Amino acid sequence: MILILLGPPGSGKGTQAKKLSEQRGWPQLSTGDMLRSAVSRKTDLGLKAKAFMDKGELVSDSVVIGLIAERTQDPDCAKGFILDGFPRTVPQSEALDDMLATRSKSVDLAVEFQIDHEELVDRLSGRRTCSKCGEMFHIKSKKPLKKDICDLCGSALVQRPDDQESVIQNRLQVYNAQTAPLIEYYEDQGKLSRLNAAQSPEQVQEDLIDLIASLSVG
Ligand code: AP5
Repeated sequence: MILILLGPPGSGKGTQAKKLSEQRGWPQLSTGDMLRSAVSRKTDLGLKAKAFMDKGELVSDSVVIGLIAERTQDPDCAKGFILDGFPRTVPQSEALDDMLATRSKSVDLAVEFQIDHEELVDRLSGRRTCSKCGEMFHIKSKKPLKKDICDLCGSALVQRPDDQESVIQNRLQVYNAQTAPLIEYYEDQGKLSRLNAAQSPEQVQEDLIDLIASLSVG
């Protein structure tokens, strides 16, 4: 199964990719996580990417295509993978199709997470992430037991630099301009399904599993 989770920032792609990965064993390939890891390790790539990420702009296509081309060759991707935050531009989608074709594979399903953009500002500005294990919390809807401390590993919770309100607005504009056209791209290929992402995480998960089951791809 090669599954794309497509949706605006904060629509719940990461939350659902993580749950699905635990459940089905397909690795979650998040270009955002890969880039943040490069930023925290202060690699050349990370130093270049940080300036774009902090402003809510996209990192160059060639960088993220390279990351995915390499990661998908790892043995754990042989039975499939979940793409979370990639592709994000039409050239990225085209590069993905070309890359998979050379491996006699193709995308099975692209799921669009549909939600009003007003709700996303609240979700993102309230998000807190564990600096160590990456577990996500929310100041209203998923409070940690102890303020600013991760329930799972006891490390400090931090706010992502791009989760400040001014940057969130730019991320939403970038999504509309550069990523929303992918909806038509996958619709034209007959690979698009839509999901109501404004429901509880549990209901979104159920709907996502139903969509995958309806495909009956292993
Ligand atoms: P990335 O890390 O991919 O961020 P994003 O797409 O903006 O997505 P988010 O992680 O913010 O949101 P999400 O949809 O995963 O929601 P989540 O589950 O976390 O990218 C960051 C940056 O990296 C980009 O801006 C860009 O610079 C760069 N980048 C990455 N990929 C790139 C690419 N391919 N090309 C170029 N540049 C790239 O949930 C959000 C919050 O909502 C959480 O608090 C969560 O608890 C809560 N929540 C989730 N589901 C629900 C629900 N059902 N109900 C209520 N609350 C919920």
